[in-house]
Amino acid sequence: MKIVTIIGARPQIIKAAALSRAIKTHYTDRIQEVLVHTGQHYDDNMSQVFFDELGIPHPDYNLHVGSASHGVQTARMMEGIEETLLKELPDFIVLYGDTNSTLAGAVAAAKIHVPIVHIEAGLRSFNKSMPEEINRIMCDHCSTLLFTPTKAGLENLKREGFPIDENGVSTFRQAQGSTTATPTIDNPKVYHCGDIMYDNSMHFASIAEEKTDIIQRLDLADKPFILATIHRDSNTDNPERLSAIFKSLIQLSEECHVVLPLHPRTAKLIKTNLSEDQQKQIFNSPNISLIPPVSFLEMIALERHAQLVMTDSGGVQKESYFFKKPCIILRPETEWVEIVQTGNAILADADESRIIQAWQHFKDNPPTTFPEIFGDGHAAEFMLEQMLFTNAIK
Ligand code: UD1
Ligand code: UDP
Repeated sequence: MKIVTIIGARPQIIKAAALSRAIKTHYTDRIQEVLVHTGQHYDDNMSQVFFDELGIPHPDYNLHVGSASHGVQTARMMEGIEETLLKELPDFIVLYGDTNSTLAGAVAAAKIHVPIVHIEAGLRSFNKSMPEEINRIMCDHCSTLLFTPTKAGLENLKREGFPIDENGVSTFRQAQGSTTATPTIDNPKVYHCGDIMYDNSMHFASIAEEKTDIIQRLDLADKPFILATIHRDSNTDNPERLSAIFKSLIQLSEECHVVLPLHPRTAKLIKTNLSEDQQKQIFNSPNISLIPPVSFLEMIALERHAQLVMTDSGGVQKESYFFKKPCIILRPETEWVEIVQTGNAILADADESRIIQAWQHFKDNPPTTFPEIFGDGHAAEFMLEQMLFTNAIK
């Protein structure tokens, strides 16, 4: 079986590590993976560092699309992906998550009838002003095999008409007029299988302790600290929201050290969307470590040692849960509703007083129970087995 995997943005490169690792460990004789990097993220610390560190094979193709408006970026990717698919003729295209690279892969593949496997299917924010919400809905509805990491994802797909029974089992049916029971774009199959990022976090947790020295380098060994990340366009591109988030970080830094690896989007927009005064406060504060994006192993080490996580990132929200840390979510809603329902994360939006209240809440009531929500750490093997099975019966 041949698969073409599309990666482009930082979290997709990290996710791909889990599948590539499982192929290398169990399936080299049965699965050939062709890796296509769209080039959506291109700085060394947003891309190359993960290949070096996580043992991901060198991409077979790099489309080098770089940064551009949504339309231009997506169109450039579609052109390159279509050409690659026509050359490689894979059995499946594998798409991760909800970025423009995901959308481009979905539209390009669906139009030339390459079956799509969507990993991280079914997640919804119910907020279509997010580019990611458009991307993930489009991708789900073009897919043949959908792997959902959470029960909420399964429920969302059911609500949108995907055939799933009351026990959460995909009631995959024989398509009208079809003589086979093979999943197709018109007759997709949904699986609830756990989260591939959980696979990665479990696999790399102890490796991170051994191989990184970021805790010592930043002098954090005996210092409680908040780990923060901010990159969502709704926060970075809106001066009022960005300023409110930084006001809360400055206030909290008087009580607890703050470590903030800066996404390039945020690094750029701080300069235009924060006042000079606020910029000085942040850059000159001894209690705020503003650092460039870190590697995945360094990020895991920071997450494991942090007292609390503050983030608008999807991946970082989940990882704070994997490592049993309370999380303040800098968004009005989340796709990972379970982590809020269990009381381990609080939606504080970009609202200074809600952020401070959430901090106070977690200081007084540190969470202790983190039920298993994200599977058993072997989602990648499950997905590959289902792809092999579907390929065998088609
Ligand atoms: C993208 C995804 C978002 C995901 C995030 C992960 C879309 C629509 N958004 O957002 O869902 O959560 O990646 O990090 O696909 N830049 C650099 N160097 C890089 C990459 C980007 O400087 O290597 C800067 C450029 O100024 C660029 C900006 O960051 O314009 C935004 O990059 P882009 O990939 O368009 O969106 P992200 O905000 O990274
Ligand atoms: N991450 C990283 N270095 C950083 C910030 C994040 O390795 O400096 C990792 C993080 O651990 C998670 C993933 O990147 O696995 C999340 O990516 P991001 O926040 O960019 O995007 P999102 O998950 O919101 O789409």
